[in-house]
Amino acid sequence: MNTNQDIVMVSAVRTPFSRFDSAMADIPSIDLGMIVMKEAVRRAGIPPSAVDEINYGSCVLAECALETDVPARQATLLAGFPPENISLTLDRACCSSLTALRMGVRAVRAGEAEVCMAVGAENMPRTPHLAPGLRRGVRLGPITLVDNMYEIGYRAKGFNSVAVDAGEVALEQGVTRDMQDRWALLSQERYQEAFAAGKFRVGEELVPVVIPRTKGEPLVIDRDESPRKTTLESLAKLKPIYGSPTVTAGNAPPMSAGASAILFMTRAKADAFGLEPLATIVASVATATEPRGIAVVPAFTIRKGLEAAGLSLDRVDLLEINEAFAAMPLVSTKILAGGDDRRWEELRERTNVNGGAIAIGHPVGASAGRIAMTLAYELRRRGGGWGAAAICGGLAQGEAVILRVDR
Ligand SMILES: CC(C)(COP(=O)(O)OP(=O)(O)OC[C@H]1O[C@@H](n2cnc3c(N)ncnc32)[C@H](O)[C@@H]1OP(=O)(O)O)[C@@H](O)C(=O)NCCC(=O)NCCS
Repeated sequence: MNTNQDIVMVSAVRTPFSRFDSAMADIPSIDLGMIVMKEAVRRAGIPPSAVDEINYGSCVLAECALETDVPARQATLLAGFPPENISLTLDRACCSSLTALRMGVRAVRAGEAEVCMAVGAENMPRTPHLAPGLRRGVRLGPITLVDNMYEIGYRAKGFNSVAVDAGEVALEQGVTRDMQDRWALLSQERYQEAFAAGKFRVGEELVPVVIPRTKGEPLVIDRDESPRKTTLESLAKLKPIYGSPTVTAGNAPPMSAGASAILFMTRAKADAFGLEPLATIVASVATATEPRGIAVVPAFTIRKGLEAAGLSLDRVDLLEINEAFAAMPLVSTKILAGGDDRRWEELRERTNVNGGAIAIGHPVGASAGRIAMTLAYELRRRGGGWGAAAICGGLAQGEAVILRVDR
């Protein structure tokens, strides 16, 4: 039943997600963040001054460092939000933009804010190499450059690369390389089908990125750049990456640039603005588990979200589980199915129905917002229902949101 105190999404938008070698790779993540923040309020038709609080997730902080610190504060000011706007830059790895949403939900529930925005912005291809020690001088010997994106993981402090943890845990759970390749193929095929059906176009979840050029018309990027046609045979030929037993360039997402923003408020406030909610945010939860459990954590987080929402898994019409790798949706749906193979298959059918990060791309700090809005828009197309979106982030953290779209 709807109440005035419900928290509702009123606007949700993202940029296309780029390829590694895209023209978008030259655009600072702050600027991508500005595009979606402006568009989220523009679509809602409310002034930036109506937004009390903006939480802004980013995960590859070395890229943000090119514009010094506090990207959230810089982006909100440059995007036209008033100096009084409260903002926070946060990093919970790939979970970050749903963490941003959870922080805003808390603020609304605590009565500290009425209107909040959750932003995620990332530009992985723009991440610079680091030259540690250079500031104090290198007296003797070569200068070493560090790539903190390389092997995407935490080896510097003794943890594994994410691909190793995901691949090993997948095998332990009985999810083979072949299953992961089949999921990757499905992700690409579902995306192609969705795109052909008019989804993932500008106006719904996408806002174009317009890049001025010295000569001629500006370059307009108005669709995701990574989806590709593939076959099981070509996927099977790819060699594993980063020492993983199963993860390859084909069953992993590409490294992308992109940004997402979700504007939300109490239903009472949405009514006062005359806005029709896109979805009700019924629960927003976080979990963490032992660090190598990155592939299992979406399952635990969805369970926690369902408990908070007082909902059984059977009532959930659609699931989004971020394809950090193919291992994540496969392992997590398997756990949710509790060892019942038919139920597992049936859950897989309801998961990432329009494809996932393997096809769309994964600008890490922005993806959590992306899965939540992809879910909301698809539930809307289907005339309403319940949905759960979950994402894993560095060293087995989880974030999930339970949404309801009224029929
Ligand atoms: C896997 C990764 C290293 C690949 O980077 P890359 O080498 O720049 O990517 P490419 O697109 O050139 O793909 C590499 C090769 O695989 C092939 N390939 C990629 N996807 C394919 C697919 N779906 N089907 C067939 N071949 C594919 C490419 O054609 C290319 O082949 P080539 O070397 O013969 O040209 C990079 O995308 C990556 O690190 N992804 C994971 C990101 C990540 O971990 N995210 C966070 C999770 S928490």
